[in-house]
Amino acid sequence: MAKETKDYSKYFDFSNAKVLSEDENGKRIRIAGRDIHIVSEPSYKEEKRRGKEEVQVLYDTEVPEEMKGFGDGRFYHITTYGCQMNEHDTETIKGMLEAMGYSFVEDRTKADVILLNTCAIRENAEDKVFGELGHLKTLKTENPDLILGVCGCMSQEESVVSRILQKHAFVDVIFGTHNIHRLPYLLRDAYFNKEMVVEVWSKEGDIIENLPKKREGMKAWVNIMYGCDKFCTYCIVPYTRGKERSRRPQDVIDEVRELARQGFKEITLLGQNVNAYGKDFADMKYLFGDLMADIQKIAIPRVRFTTSHPRDFDDHLIEVLAAKGNLVEHIHLPVQSGSSEILKRMSRKYNRETYLELVRKIKQAIPDVVLTTDIIVGFPGETDEQFEETLSLVREVEYDSGFTFIYSPRAGTPAAEMEDNVPMEVKKARLQRLNDLMAEISLKKNLALKDQVVEVLVEGESKTNAEVLSGRTRTNKLVHFRGPQSLCGQFVHVRITEPQTWVLKGELVEQVVSETAAALG
Ligand code: SAH
Ligand code: SF4
Ligand code: F3S
Repeated sequence: MAKETKDYSKYFDFSNAKVLSEDENGKRIRIAGRDIHIVSEPSYKEEKRRGKEEVQVLYDTEVPEEMKGFGDGRFYHITTYGCQMNEHDTETIKGMLEAMGYSFVEDRTKADVILLNTCAIRENAEDKVFGELGHLKTLKTENPDLILGVCGCMSQEESVVSRILQKHAFVDVIFGTHNIHRLPYLLRDAYFNKEMVVEVWSKEGDIIENLPKKREGMKAWVNIMYGCDKFCTYCIVPYTRGKERSRRPQDVIDEVRELARQGFKEITLLGQNVNAYGKDFADMKYLFGDLMADIQKIAIPRVRFTTSHPRDFDDHLIEVLAAKGNLVEHIHLPVQSGSSEILKRMSRKYNRETYLELVRKIKQAIPDVVLTTDIIVGFPGETDEQFEETLSLVREVEYDSGFTFIYSPRAGTPAAEMEDNVPMEVKKARLQRLNDLMAEISLKKNLALKDQVVEVLVEGESKTNAEVLSGRTRTNKLVHFRGPQSLCGQFVHVRITEPQTWVLKGELVEQVVSETAAALG
């Protein structure tokens, strides 16, 4: 835990802040009449460090007995931004709150605790949160007993914490991604002390097993590792999520077995770079391919994983994935750019040729594989030619879909210091051309599925028509078809009659496919 006192003046004028006390329990300051207890605060410098110290795994982490019942008769609401990692953290937060006795409430005006689990990946993600804080201020004024908390990746940013202290001092608690398990104590302090509590750990702590999780539906997320050591020059994640730490294989396997027993139909293994799984084990050689091979033996019908960094994608993993079974033939393989020069400046540690070679190997081993990707346009200094290289790579790989972004500078990252000479109109025009191309390829790929029968996991009604059911193929494509509600949560066979760019419309041919068949592929 970093206890360094920082110079906030870099971000805001704190001349109106008065230091009340400072000791080993942190610092108490007063800003515009609001008392703030800074137990620990984020530091980019600390977050950048990668220490050699061994990661401990803590198993005895249940919500303490004396905290159970603390939330009885009280309600919470939580809004989640960002990636699946955050969605899954929210499930843990919900699990802890419910173990304390709180119940979820949809209507925020009825909540006693409101949390924002935030994302720092791009500026617009942050703008949304600050906008939301503006709305919440009114609720707080109407109900002074309301506890308002900010957690997630934005809390790990120096600039964000400063901005909240200065401009949104009605927030009651700020905690980060490494100390979620401290939530019961933080809430207790916020209730009793009536001061804002800031407790953000700059250094990742231990791996915390056994926190309660509130999972809903038929699909479950499973963390296999935390953090990221890749330090792509544009990316904030290595700072907000700490160093790479893999969960012990047995803990992952036990969790997947338990999910299978509970009847979950699909799991997604999560990590910022799942292919680095196991590289940090000092006592054994057990990598992502080994984990996938073990999970392949578990009777859970579908297994996905995200995200795959092209650099660590090894031959053993390809071989295991090619055997399929419950391992689906979909790989999300972010490329970011088709230009080797840009990739070098992004510090992605592969180039256009090695990426294409990996794609060739994957397609050879798994001919019906669906590849999806992430691409950033308008990285500092990206020329027209370099952008054209991205388009040509997209044409060559023929991704079924992808997430495309305009580069967004993140304070504290190396790219934010690079000269960004690409005008916004050019970035927007590039994004549009890229999106048009992705849509064209997606439609072409989907048209090839016409008249084919695909296996669909039925998830519920379609968003636009209650008579139409919606589900996903093994390759994660969205399928709409008519059928009875009773099929929700089941595997069915659907013939594709009307493929479109982002949805496959079809008709039911077989009501329920046996799960063993589904698991065996
Ligand atoms: N760990 C994953 C990515 C997680 S972030 C991986 O490496 O594949 C999800 C996506 O957000 C990234 O793939 C990238 O395309 C995008 N992204 C990250 N930082 C960004 C930034 N500063 N500006 C724009 N897009 C960004
Ligand atoms: Fe960010 Fe790169 Fe890590 Fe992905 S691999 S989280 S893009 S630093
Ligand atoms: Fe956002 Fe943090 Fe995920 S920055 S994308 S929520 S790891």
